[in-house]
Amino acid sequence: MINKFPKINFIGNKEKIAQWITDYFPKDAKSIFDAFSGGSSVSYQSKIKGLKVISNDILGINYLLSKALIENNSVQLSNEDVELIFSGKPKEGFMFKNYSEVFFFPNECKELDLYRGNIEKLDSDYKKALALILMRRAMIRKMPYSRFNINWEKIKQLRDEEYSYEKYKRKRAYHNQTFKSHFLENMGEYNNAVFDNKKENLSLNEDVFKIIDSVEADIIYLDPPYTGTMNNYFGFYGMLDEYIESKKLQAFENNFIDKKSSIELFDKLFSKLNNFKYWYLSYNNSSYPSKEQLIELLEKYSSNIQLVEKPHVYKITGKENKKVNMEFLFIIKNDNYDNTKSNRREQTICETAN
Ligand SMILES: C[S@@+](CC[C@H](N)C(=O)[O-])C[C@H]1O[C@@H](n2cnc3c(N)ncnc32)[C@H](O)[C@@H]1O
Repeated sequence: MINKFPKINFIGNKEKIAQWITDYFPKDAKSIFDAFSGGSSVSYQSKIKGLKVISNDILGINYLLSKALIENNSVQLSNEDVELIFSGKPKEGFMFKNYSEVFFFPNECKELDLYRGNIEKLDSDYKKALALILMRRAMIRKMPYSRFNINWEKIKQLRDEEYSYEKYKRKRAYHNQTFKSHFLENMGEYNNAVFDNKKENLSLNEDVFKIIDSVEADIIYLDPPYTGTMNNYFGFYGMLDEYIESKKLQAFENNFIDKKSSIELFDKLFSKLNNFKYWYLSYNNSSYPSKEQLIELLEKYSSNIQLVEKPHVYKITGKENKKVNMEFLFIIKNDNYDNTKSNRREQTICETAN
């Protein structure tokens, strides 16, 4: 069976170039730490390649994406699970109180509150993760621009199918489909995306700076928010974390938004990567710092830096409005890496297998 990455719709995802990236991975690498895993596209491609994958993201919803699709090797949702998730009457809970006529209509918020409670009754954490990422998919499909920082007047306008047709020649009827119909439409694809690569993969949900010293792998893949581009991930998706937790949350720090602190963050990050033999860093030509500045920072740690470039087309809105960027992949061999670390790791893996 061919494992197919499902439709996630994650801003800044590497889905189209994940294979290009992983094709550069060295033959001797057996494990990868995807430190900013986002929509999990590179983790997924690495899992297909047979690597042991450790994924991490500071946002809870992104952690659930990797929990369901990377760490989970076998659990799927059944029709009985679906019955449980959609049973009962809509009720007034966190979403109704905080996000009625902010992101959704009041009756839709009440439905979300009912489903959130029901998902908690599922009998495994992997099922809960799968159900929540399918609910994410449904919420995103109903949301104009697919991100949660649009004002209500604009949302209402774009969900008005007549207006949308007159103005953009597209009705966008999917914004008005029910959560349940979106959930069901995507469930088969998400279930089928779950597969076993015979490795104990692991998903984490931390600020990368907090855990970097304690994670070990052959490769670290770094895909941080690109400073100077539209990169406020808490702004885009923080509401989904609030839905999961049923409480208001503060935006996270170390977010690479501010131009002034971004170079310091990179410097700090690079200084903490001694547990990894190979470093892979994604960036592009319209972000800050520049490739020359990044190379200067990296040269402190390696005399073996390779840079490969690829035109990357992404859609801003609509079909016509496309932009071409040069996507960079920095490949770094860490001069200070202690080779006994990977030998020890391999020995532990063999011992556990025996
Ligand atoms: C460019 S996206 C990654 C996209 C991903 N490679 C994909 O293909 O979908 C950057 C991610 O970094 C996460 N992030 C930002 N600051 C972080 C931090 N300090 N620690 C961990 N994750 C962070 C964001 O939540 C976001 O998901």
